[in-house]
This record gives sequence, C-alpha cells and structure tokens, in this order.
Amino acid sequence: MNWRSPVIYLIFPYFLAVAIIYCFPNLQDNKISSEFLPLWLSYTSKILQDKTKSPTNLVSEISWQVSCYQQFLDKIGVIHPTVSVALHFNGQAEPCNIIIVKELLNDSNVLSTLRLLDKCPDWESQYFTDSFLTRLLHDLSSLACSIEDQHPGLHQFCDRGLKRTPILRDHRLLVPYKLTEDGPSYLPCHFHNASGYRLSSVSLLREWIQDMSCQQEDYTAGKTCRGHPTLELYAVPAGRHFMFAPKYIGEIIPLPHVPGADPTQPVNLEVLSVSPRVFDLVNFVSKQESEDLVERALAETRESYRLQRSTTGSNGREINRYRTSETAFDAAGETAMNIKRRSFAVLGMGNYIESYADGVQILRYRNGTAYQKHLDWIEPNTRSQHNYDSAGQGSNRFATLLLYMNDIEANQGGETVFANAWPLDVAETKRLSLEQAKSQLLESEFSNFLTQGSWEEDLAVWCRSRLAIRPKSARTVLFYSQLPDGQKDESSQHGACPVFNTTKVKYGVICWWSTESL
Ligand SMILES: *[C@@H]1O[C@H](CO)[C@@H](O)[C@H](O)[C@H]1NC(C)=O
Ligand SMILES: *[C@@H]1O[C@H](CO)[C@@H](O)[C@H](O)[C@H]1NC(C)=O
Ligand SMILES: *[C@@H]1O[C@H](CO)[C@@H](O)[C@H](O)[C@H]1NC(C)=O
Ligand SMILES: *[C@@H]1O[C@H](CO)[C@@H](O)[C@H](O)[C@H]1NC(C)=O
Repeated sequence: MNWRSPVIYLIFPYFLAVAIIYCFPNLQDNKISSEFLPLWLSYTSKILQDKTKSPTNLVSEISWQVSCYQQFLDKIGVIHPTVSVALHFNGQAEPCNIIIVKELLNDSNVLSTLRLLDKCPDWESQYFTDSFLTRLLHDLSSLACSIEDQHPGLHQFCDRGLKRTPILRDHRLLVPYKLTEDGPSYLPCHFHNASGYRLSSVSLLREWIQDMSCQQEDYTAGKTCRGHPTLELYAVPAGRHFMFAPKYIGEIIPLPHVPGADPTQPVNLEVLSVSPRVFDLVNFVSKQESEDLVERALAETRESYRLQRSTTGSNGREINRYRTSETAFDAAGETAMNIKRRSFAVLGMGNYIESYADGVQILRYRNGTAYQKHLDWIEPNTRSQHNYDSAGQGSNRFATLLLYMNDIEANQGGETVFANAWPLDVAETKRLSLEQAKSQLLESEFSNFLTQGSWEEDLAVWCRSRLAIRPKSARTVLFYSQLPDGQKDESSQHGACPVFNTTKVKYGVICWWSTESL
C-alpha cells in the first residue's frame, strides 16, 4: 500500500478522528467534536504530508499528541466562554492585550503548540507550563505585546538575548521553545498573578480561571467567589523578577498567600506611590517581632555586627558624613530569618535563596541624625570585580523592605522621604514647594535642631514637601530600586529625615538583590 496516496490522506485521518473521539470521551464532553473533526482532518493531513517522517513515526506522533491533548483537557477543565485573560508586561498597570481564554486554549492553538514538542510535557511542571503558555500567548498577543514590529509577538519580550538576561539560580531548568519547527529557540517568560504568585502548573491556571468564572452565576451557583472578571497575568522575561504594577494611589493588592503577623488578618500591599513604586505592607511584621529585632541588635557585642556608626559604599566600609545613623547587622537571628523568608514570598521570587538577600540591618537614628537622599542601587565601582549592571547580566539591589520599630509623632521627624513622590493627605493644589516648606520649617520650633545651611536642614525641607512616611511600630514599607527591565530607578531616591526628638527612632532594612548578592 502506498502511504502517500491522496486516498490515504483523506480517509486515514477520518477514521483516526472517529476512533479518537470514540476512545476519548472527554473530547465529546467538551462539546468540541463537531468543530474538532474538520480541524483534525487538516491537522493530520498536514502531518501526513511531512515526507521526512516514516508512517510508523507519523502514527505514533499523532497518537501521543492526541492523548496529550486529552490530558490537557482533563487538567484545564471546562472554561466559561466569556472568561478572559489580561496579559501585562511585568510591572505594567495597563495590559497589552485582553484575550478570551476559550480562544487562547482552543483546539488548533493547543495542538499546533504540541506539534512543536518531541513528547508530551508534564502538565504539572512549572518550567514546561512557562514554555507552553509563552508559545501559546506569542501568537495571540497582538502587536501591542511586541517589542519589535518586525517580529510581532511575545518572544522578544521574554527572551532579551544573552547580554540582557541575568542568570538566575534556576536558569538551566528553563524550557526553550520554538516558533516554527526548524526555527531558533527562545527562552520563555514566567507568569504571575496580580498578587505576585507565580504560575506553577496547568492545574493552577485552571484554579485561577475558575476563580473568576465562578462570578458568573449560571456557571457555579452557590460557590463563594472573590471574583475577578478578568484574570490578570504578568509576563516576566527570563532572568528577571516579578514587580508589582500599581494602578493608582490607595489601591490595595491582596497577598493571601503570604503568612503575616496576625493570622486572622490578611496581608495586603497599599499603594503609596505609583512611580517610584512604594507600598505599605500591611500586617506583615508583628510588634513582637520588631521588638525582638531591636533587642537582639542592642544585645549584639561582636565587633562587625554590633550597633555602630553606619557605613556606605560597595565595600561597606566607608564612613559617610551624609549618613549619621548607627547600624547593626542581624545575619542569622531567628526573627530576622523568618522575616527574610516571608519577604521573599511577598516579592514573588519563588523558593527562598539566602544569597539574594542582604542581612537585616538595624538602624538607629538619634536626636538630629539623618541619612541624605540616596538610591539603594549601588553605583559601579571601578575597583570592584562585581558586575552591577542590572539592566544587562549583572546584579544590583532590586527591592528594599523598611521595618519601623517605634512610633514617632507627627512633625517629630524620622520619616522616610521619597523625593519624587507627593504626600497622600495633601490635595494637589495644596502641595508645598520647596521654598514654602523651607520658610515653614524656619518658623517652626524644630529649626533650632538644625544647623543653618546644613544638608540636614535641606533634607528636612524635602521631608515637609514630599511623601514622608512616618515611623510606626511594626509598619513595613516596600519599594523598588530597579525598573522592571533591570535599569536603575532614579525616581526611587529617598532619605531618612532628621529626628527632632531625643527619642531614638529605630528601624530595620533588608535589601534584595536581582541575582546573587556580593
Ligand atoms: C482558535 O483561535 C484562533 C485565534 O483566536 C482562530 O483563528 C481559530 O479559528 C480558532 N480555531 C478553532 C478551531 O476554534
Ligand atoms: C494569586 O494566586 C494565589 C495562589 O493561587 C491566590 O491566593 C491569590 O488570591 C491570587 N491573587 C489574585 C489577585 O488573584
Ligand atoms: C538634641 O539636639 C539639640 C540640637 O542640636 C541639642 O540642643 C540637644 O542638646 C540634643 N539633645 C540630646 C539629648 O542629645
Ligand atoms: C519626643 O517624643 C516623645 C514621645 O513621642 C514625646 O513625649 C515628647 O514630647 C517629644 N519631645 C519633643 C521635644 O518634642
């Protein structure tokens, strides 16, 4: 018999399709068999025309793909026809495209992605799910989700090329994918939801899709739903970390997966500023934990850990006259470790990796002491071997968590000021210019705390004009020192305002690195 005869082209796929539909009842349950048949005919005849493959290979290829497709349908379940996914670039509040999930996961899309693989993937594997979804979304993500006009689609966003892809710990586990059978392969994105939780399997995707579809009464009556009309998915390029995408000031981003200080209360992010990205992390650290940290820092006697005049610079040894606080390091205390692990979950960075974190620094600001406006991002130092170019393959400070450990009353100083963000409780028209803030400060009772013309005085002026976050016991603030693509975020400039009170202000700082720290 001639396997390549036209009769075979037409008849063989038909019998195979009937047999398949008969053998895989789920294909019928999904009510796709009427659409499936014509699709299947064109699909199999396309495979049969592939003259490079022997008939036995073709049959085995078709059969694994069909059983694999069946497994996929089992995992993904029935999808409500109106559910959609809003695809975002990492850190971007606006989606680049909104796609109906039913269309995204339709037969021809899933089968044509399967055709590019050599075997049925493990649908529960995180790295395969990344690769599969990137490939699927690539075709359907429209020009708006492309970073180059010549090659529309997601692939060039996800794979930024060797020079701009930092090597994360799990780099060798990534599953590259192809766009065409003989084309080059690309590194996939990984995907997170709006809470920063990383998509780890097709089953979790199903859970997320059902979570929003249960809003629709006819679909799952009686089920209580949190209700998201559209699943927001954030695509993060290979080698980069997820970054929250605040939409507006005051927005609340729930982090139900993060263990908090009080288990009966949810952990949330509240947006304090959109650019720079600054958040209150609510219910994250307990008062007890914050007291433990201070206690340990004060009890520390080892020379390189105990509380002493702060240093700065990439070698961490320079006394800086613009930083008059005292610092202690808590490298391994139980509370410090616990907080570090939980902040890793907040940041959506996956499994905890110690070398991505600086130790917990405990700072003490006394009467009049301060820290001039600065970036946590470290400027490259010619003497250092370390590659600080976080927009390329290097690594630098990525995010910072500030923990405040005591209350300071209004106008008593000690705030953290963000030079490029505005106060929340002041209407836009009532904002103070630096000149206005300065004359107010000079008239106030606090002016005698400050030397005229000093940098501390200048900083105190900024503190009166811009977003100044007031210390409160167990208050926790998160901000980023990088932009989503790894560039230094100049707008993240911040300082510690002079304290106008003999009471000491204490707080803790943890900085997170984009890859391994020094
Ligand atoms: C699947 O979706 C694509 C894109 O949305 C569409 O062009 C195609 O006709 C659909 N195919 C089927 C079988 O529904
Ligand atoms: C993100 O996923 C986690 C884990 O499934 C879930 O707890 C959380 O509610 C999700 N967030 C949003 C905004 O859907
Ligand atoms: C606090 O600073 C002010 C102004 O510099 C000074 O007069 C005062 O003595 C200081 N108080 C203490 C307890 O250091
Ligand atoms: C310093 O703060 C304490 C506690 O908040 C307060 O009782 C005291 O009046 C403040 N001192 C000054 C000089 O404002």
